[in-house]
Amino acid sequence: MALLVSIDQGTIRMNLPPYDNFPSISDDKISLREIQFSDIDDIIGISFYDAIQATTIKQVTEMQNKINKDYLDGNSIHWGIADKLTNKIVGTCGYYRGLDKGEGELGCVLIPQYRGQGYMTSALLLAIEFGRHHIGLRRIWAITTKQNERAIKLIEKLNFIKIAELDDNEVEYELSM
Ligand SMILES: CC(C)(COP(=O)(O)OP(=O)(O)OC[C@H]1O[C@@H](n2cnc3c(N)ncnc32)[C@H](O)[C@@H]1OP(=O)(O)O)[C@@H](O)C(=O)NCCC(=O)NCCS
Repeated sequence: MALLVSIDQGTIRMNLPPYDNFPSISDDKISLREIQFSDIDDIIGISFYDAIQATTIKQVTEMQNKINKDYLDGNSIHWGIADKLTNKIVGTCGYYRGLDKGEGELGCVLIPQYRGQGYMTSALLLAIEFGRHHIGLRRIWAITTKQNERAIKLIEKLNFIKIAELDDNEVEYELSM
């Protein structure tokens, strides 16, 4: 949905969800693609909505319906990260807030067995490229806790810099654009 969005500095043209086709993007190792019903079993351990974890197939399905509604309302985009060799979901990532203001809060999670192999670095590079050049984001940020060393290492490697210490032991990082 192409539209003009008002931000502090004026008006910008953006290309917000939903799109004619759900965007699938890939490099040589992974694809960011829509979550399918057949993926539900694989994502039980990593399904969160409003910081609440789904622990049953029914809860994951309900959560997925809320995520799909947010996408259709233009408020977020949530990808499954699939290994290209197997098409199996190894994690998820996306933009979950701020799109209506020309901004995107990046969030991400990997299934534990797929950590430490570079999947998320590849996924966030694709998501950042899509956010900047397809959605038209002017700012990309991420929030995590001070103790989340793996997340901090990941985003610092991708050129995010710390811009604020927040309540509840959280820190905000912003991508240098
Ligand atoms: C945050 C999180 C996604 C980071 O996962 P990760 O596995 O460290 O990140 P990547 O997939 O990019 O893998 C990077 C690691 O793989 C290694 N690696 C191996 N092969 C690699 C390759 N081809 N390319 C890049 N890195 C590779 C890197 O050296 C790095 O390991 P190191 O940190 O020990 O040096 C993961 O810890 C997680 O899901 N945490 C729970 C959810 C969470 O905290 N989300 C963040 C909220 S903002």
